[in-house]
Amino acid sequence: MAVIGQDISQARRVLEAGDLVAIPTETVYGLAGNALNATAVASIFDTKNRPSFDPLIIHVPSLLVAQNYVIEIPEPLRKLAEHFWPGPLTLLLPRATSIPDIVTSGLDRVAVRVPDHPLTLELLAQLDYPLAAPSANPFGYISPTSPQHVDAQLGTRISYILDGGKCKVGLESTIVGMEGNDIVVYRLGGLEISEIERIVGQVKVKSHSTSNPQAPGLLESHYAPSKPFLIGNLDELISKYQSQGIDFAVLSLAKTFSFIPSENQIALSARSNLKEAATHLFAAMRMLDESNTAVILAELMPETGLGRAINDRLKRASTKA
Ligand code: TXA
Ligand code: MG
Repeated sequence: MAVIGQDISQARRVLEAGDLVAIPTETVYGLAGNALNATAVASIFDTKNRPSFDPLIIHVPSLLVAQNYVIEIPEPLRKLAEHFWPGPLTLLLPRATSIPDIVTSGLDRVAVRVPDHPLTLELLAQLDYPLAAPSANPFGYISPTSPQHVDAQLGTRISYILDGGKCKVGLESTIVGMEGNDIVVYRLGGLEISEIERIVGQVKVKSHSTSNPQAPGLLESHYAPSKPFLIGNLDELISKYQSQGIDFAVLSLAKTFSFIPSENQIALSARSNLKEAATHLFAAMRMLDESNTAVILAELMPETGLGRAINDRLKRASTKA
């Protein structure tokens, strides 16, 4: 299994050797390698079992450093970076030639972000290259929000996990770019749309398409547990599965059910706070996936604030009929 520790020098040594390290961020853990080393980047795809048409985000310690890897930063996106970096925001920017093709799957924009985690920021500041890092999960499975999640699935494939504790946001970054004068959101995430619109005015949301050529990685089926995951009205779903005698687990925003064993139900936030719910979402999906039941039944959140991004993940995790 991988070593889990807080030794930044050790993480740096592994990266210098062209190998991969799992890094903490405020959103989810990343599987990181030297973004300027095409061989290291190739092993990221290999380790995750990720198709090579799905491009990676590069992580840098600051907006200043980001400028080294892009041709320009359109003014509205610069404003967003100034407001929200470090933070759960990824920008799609015209890429400089120093970024290998394999990072962007040949696209002319590169995804860049400054993650908000002290250990990773310190590590990035010590490196003279950016870190390419997708979420540290096997392709298509739920993203990891703790070092233990990473270890459980990729522990035999990597040597070091930098331990930054539990992720405080719990949802991947919001991805934003421009098309002409339009500001476009390609993935709903940990930074709310209303926060973005407060700085740059109205944006277009283009997320959730199976065949969006601008973001080939935003596949509809994703973040999926291994057992059937059904979303709908919980009372109706529960009575349906009860009447069929099928064991189920339940994922709710705040509700609990006295007739369901406590290990088979998780309420994401007793006070219906959507930020708190986001923090717990992926860990809860994993726990219920490991529960001794045949299916997971879940309800959608209110479509406000982070509820929109949570619902995006729940829908992509859900089993298509
Ligand atoms: O919060 C996050 O963004 C985490 C942490 C580790 O930083 N990373 C993450 O990476 O979620 P990943 O690889 O799981 O998701 C990145 C998404 C993919 O869906 C990919 O298609 C999209 O970003 N993406 C990356 N580069 C792109 C590009 N040049 N053009 C369009 N979409 C891009
Ligand atoms: Mg991912």
